[in-house]
Amino acid sequence: MFRRLALAFAALLSVVSAQLTITSPGPNDWWVASSLNTISWTCSTSPYQNFTILLANSNTAVLPAPLAIIAVQYNYDCSKTITQQQSAQPAGTGYTVQFASTLNSTDIYAQSEPFEIKALGSSYPTTTSTAGSTATGTASGSAGAAQATTTGGTLAQYVPVGMSMVAALALGLVVA
Ligand SMILES: *[C@@H]1O[C@H](CO)[C@@H](O)[C@H](O)[C@H]1NC(C)=O
Ligand SMILES: *[C@@H]1O[C@H](CO)[C@@H](O)[C@H](O)[C@H]1NC(C)=O
Repeated sequence: MFRRLALAFAALLSVVSAQLTITSPGPNDWWVASSLNTISWTCSTSPYQNFTILLANSNTAVLPAPLAIIAVQYNYDCSKTITQQQSAQPAGTGYTVQFASTLNSTDIYAQSEPFEIKALGSSYPTTTSTAGSTATGTASGSAGAAQATTTGGTLAQYVPVGMSMVAALALGLVVA
């Protein structure tokens, strides 16, 4: 049993290696309009040292073109809290975060899954831990399962269960 798990983890690890993946926001990891929001990525496997962070929307009526919200973001930060001003976009669905070359913002390194910006006052996604930079992932069942610590009006760094697993794996904390 354990060995099988270890093999599965190793397989997952090989998939994640040398990749930049935006782990948050995502489908279950929305933003709240005009509030503090978090972007997290797989910094330990990223081949890039820095990037420009853009906010895009598949609907050009919402955003005609990707909007740069951070000109130069260093990979080693691993996550970034976006201020109210930086995420001053209307509530809506179909948003994506893009990481692009700082020299050419159409050279996209990574793109998040689509996510929603919910109206001001909505609650943040339920959180699992203070993962992010301190990935202490333990294998705790299905991804996204709510191990809720509701974050009310304040921002806590959040990483879905599945993602903190990946981060922990990437850091070599879990693989046997
Ligand atoms: C970003 O990283 C590249 C190497 O990938 C480096 O050449 C460049 O100087 C860095 N830019 C900044 C602003 O640190
Ligand atoms: C910017 O990147 C895009 C996509 O990789 C590429 O097609 C385009 O030629 C690049 N532009 C410049 C000025 O390098």
